[in-house]
Amino acid sequence: MKSKVVDNNENLLSGVTRRDFMKFCTAVAATMGLPLGMVPKIAEAITSPQRPPVIWLSGQECTGCVETLLRTNHPSIDSLIFDLISLEYSETLNAGSGHQAEAARTKSIEANKGKFILVVDGAIPVKDKGIYCMIAGKPVLDILNETAPLAAAVIAIGSCAAWGGVAAASPNPTGATPVHEILKGKGIPVVNIPGCPPNPYNFLSTVIHYLTFKKLPALDDKGRPKFAYSRLIHENCERRPHFDAGRFAEQFGDEGHRQGFCLYKLGCKGPETYNNCSTLPFNDTPGCWPVATGSPCFGCSEEKVGFNSPLFSKAKVVFPTPPAGHTDAVPEKGGGAKGFAYGVAGAAIGAAAVALTKRDGKED
Ligand code: SF4
Ligand code: SF4
Ligand code: F3S
Repeated sequence: MKSKVVDNNENLLSGVTRRDFMKFCTAVAATMGLPLGMVPKIAEAITSPQRPPVIWLSGQECTGCVETLLRTNHPSIDSLIFDLISLEYSETLNAGSGHQAEAARTKSIEANKGKFILVVDGAIPVKDKGIYCMIAGKPVLDILNETAPLAAAVIAIGSCAAWGGVAAASPNPTGATPVHEILKGKGIPVVNIPGCPPNPYNFLSTVIHYLTFKKLPALDDKGRPKFAYSRLIHENCERRPHFDAGRFAEQFGDEGHRQGFCLYKLGCKGPETYNNCSTLPFNDTPGCWPVATGSPCFGCSEEKVGFNSPLFSKAKVVFPTPPAGHTDAVPEKGGGAKGFAYGVAGAAIGAAAVALTKRDGKED
């Protein structure tokens, strides 16, 4: 696909205005924790005609990971993504199908050996030689094993690809396995972008990092980009001051729930889930993330939490004290250092409430 770069200050990419485009680049820089001085470099990389070829494979998935990417706006990612990457093959987005599409995939892999990014959504079933997910008569297990060694890097998008997700939930009848486990020991770099679905900005920022710096972003010990997954959701949650003050919703729809109190007692897994959901809303819409809508985080992006822990079980609180600079939810208590001091004291109340509940074995 040809990149539609124009220089009339009006439209840069696919009808995206310069203003929206620069806002997008700024958001990407902020997502990655880069200084604003990097925005022109990011913009230059995105508008470069050198776009990485991408082969997108799908295993056991629900299409939600692709859908979330296409539903992003400001600017619309469905148009932007086609100028950002050269999408050579995707079963969901291919215009063609059947033998033609398969032939195009083989041709593109051959032509772009060592240069293409392989994106995989969905888990890979390994039981019975992988027959539970077949593409064009071939197990996706075999296709992945053939394709990944030829890629520059592999991105496992979504919790299904990163950890096994829904398909791997007990009793895992098909032997659904995460991508990195299939490729273990083969020296192939695998980036995990977990989430069900993940925030599209975390995926796009990873691709843009690769475009801008010609290398993958720094990863944690689980293969996740550190810029997105190094903080617990609980650290920056807007309901955190309520946790610190010991104010919890006890039941869905009760007064505490209506007041926006902490959802810990309703099973919120924010205290043990690493992701940037509390700071980077979905679809560029403030308040568009589970906890803000009144739904406890179920740890969809955390290995062995989402799809493993019971929905209403209490999370393990890793850090009971609030993060530095935390604001106070009760304005009359004042902000700044005073607010922070109250926060620390409040944390003791919240932690004590949690500990008491655990000690008494109550799941109230
Ligand atoms: Fe669907 Fe969630 Fe799996 Fe993505 S991670 S394919 S949204 S079930
Ligand atoms: Fe937010 Fe959940 Fe932590 Fe409460 S337990 S502060 S709702 S992340
Ligand atoms: Fe998932 Fe929890 Fe974020 S459910 S989308 S990790 S708030």
